[in-house]
Amino acid sequence: MFQTLLKEVREYKRASIATPLFMLLEVLMETMIPYLMASIIDKGVNAGDLGHIYRVGGLMIVAAAIGLFAGMAGGRYGAKASAGLARNLRGSMFDHIQTFSFANIDKFSTAGLVTRLTTDVTNIQNAYQMMLRMMMRAPASMVCALVMAFTINARLASIYLVAVLFLGVILFFIIRHATRYFRMAFPKYDELNASVQENVSAIRVVKAYVREEHETTKFKKASENIYRIFVKAEHNVIFNAPLMQFTVYTCIILISWLGAKMIVSDTLTTGELMSLLTYCMNILMSLMMLSMVFVMLSMSTASAERICEVLNEKSDLSDPENPIMEVPDGSIAFHHVDFSYKKDSQEPVLQDINLDIHSGETIGIIGATGSAKSSLVSLISRLYDVSAGEVLVGGHNVKEYEMEALRNQVSVVLQNNVLFSGTIYDNLRWGNLQATDKECQEACRLACADEFIHTFPQGYDTRIEQGGNNVSGGQKQRLCVARALLKKPKILILDDSTSAVDTATDAKIRRAFREEIPDTTKLIIAQRISSVQDADRILVLEEGRINGFGTHKELLAGNAIYREVYESQTKGGGDFDEKKEV
Ligand SMILES: Nc1ncnc2c1ncn2[C@@H]1O[C@H](COP(=O)(O)OP(=O)(O)OP(=O)(O)O)[C@@H](O)[C@H]1O
Ligand SMILES: [Mg+2]
Repeated sequence: MFQTLLKEVREYKRASIATPLFMLLEVLMETMIPYLMASIIDKGVNAGDLGHIYRVGGLMIVAAAIGLFAGMAGGRYGAKASAGLARNLRGSMFDHIQTFSFANIDKFSTAGLVTRLTTDVTNIQNAYQMMLRMMMRAPASMVCALVMAFTINARLASIYLVAVLFLGVILFFIIRHATRYFRMAFPKYDELNASVQENVSAIRVVKAYVREEHETTKFKKASENIYRIFVKAEHNVIFNAPLMQFTVYTCIILISWLGAKMIVSDTLTTGELMSLLTYCMNILMSLMMLSMVFVMLSMSTASAERICEVLNEKSDLSDPENPIMEVPDGSIAFHHVDFSYKKDSQEPVLQDINLDIHSGETIGIIGATGSAKSSLVSLISRLYDVSAGEVLVGGHNVKEYEMEALRNQVSVVLQNNVLFSGTIYDNLRWGNLQATDKECQEACRLACADEFIHTFPQGYDTRIEQGGNNVSGGQKQRLCVARALLKKPKILILDDSTSAVDTATDAKIRRAFREEIPDTTKLIIAQRISSVQDADRILVLEEGRINGFGTHKELLAGNAIYREVYESQTKGGGDFDEKKEV
């Protein structure tokens, strides 16, 4: 796991190595200063040698300056390396997520991916910075100070060893206990994020159903959970500081007491006592730091695991070795296709589908909600792979095409399509980056979107807000159809894409399709019979199986489901705007 993460350090390797080295230099300088101090006091102040004071004082300033510089440089490189790692991690994850199939994304959920890209990466960034700066510094500082203390006076210094052992053991237990809680907290963040994400992105629905209170309670619960866990964890950690203080002061008292006796008996100098006291602080502080590093590291392992899961996820769909780059025509064939969303599910969503659609045909698809209409068409542009059988486009299995080439030729207007923030032109050019203004306007004319765009004061330069919230449902659908048309696809699939468009306009769009893009194979999923009845053939789906396939007349004569839907929609109870049909 750590290998996966370390690979992402890449261009920040130098900064990552420089940081601990600078920290080491800082430690060396830091250890030297109390030693020089002792020399000033003993050989300078006590002996009345001013020259010595100046000389060693000068040295001290140099040491302090080098220490300062090294500390700053270490801090800078540490920040650079950790921020760099975070950037690389985010970049790699984002790139990798782009290769994910719909099935991969289903597995992680959008909220999960967002948390991993943000909170988890931030955790790793903090832990990495702490590690670079402290992993080397803290033990080095402790060892240096201990060595110095022992050279000055081994008997007194042994008190530190006892203190280190004592504090070390207690810290170990405290930290072990606290980490358990910290680790519990992170999965709870997912819950919190999911709650926020779902609520904020669907705030309109929440308000429409007056569910604010329910949602607030849900959020409060998630947030309360995190609060409780953190309080528990901190309750443990809180003992660290007083414990540390207690140990430090005990040591100081002991050293002062024993040291004073030694000074009286002339086996220790005042300067030496002073530096010993400073080292006491250094040693115990380092121990404390080290324990904090361990807390951080164990806290971040959960995040590291979650990030690696994304980075190591293999996309279900991949391009073949020698892909076909061009779709020859718009014919579609299904041969004994079975499909299910999860590999281990019992009941397939689609069962034994056999179809033969000629290039340029217009096919209507109808069926009850959940009859797998959307699932069927998602196989054509290879948004999912079939479980059994094969899907052919232009005479070749869809798996033989380069995915980009295939999807450029098979344009799908998804059922729950969205627009992105940007102008109308920007949104249209998602379909085709090179499209000229004229081509965009032409596509909008075909999709009957030009009528309402002209009423906007800024026309095609009108800004669309995130998700397309500032246009009506029907307007959004028409823009989505125009966007798909701009690809000039060989196959155009409209999944319930005109459901919010009035029947008259719907008919107009279909007529435009028939007259202006006759060579494109068109698959139209609809709930209204009127939207499909003039298609060349109509496919009736029922619970993932083909129930009927033929012209309007044939189906009306021979298909019970089709006839029933037709009758219910024409003789009252159907679409109220049916009468407007042109
Ligand atoms: N991403 C998914 N993961 C798992 N199951 C799914 C997924 N999408 C759809 N399903 C299931 O597959 C079945 C067929 O769904 P599908 O969306 O194809 O129906 P549909 O005919 O398009 O319905 P509608 O008319 O409501 O759009 C349903 O039972 C649904 O629960
Ligand atoms: Mg659907």
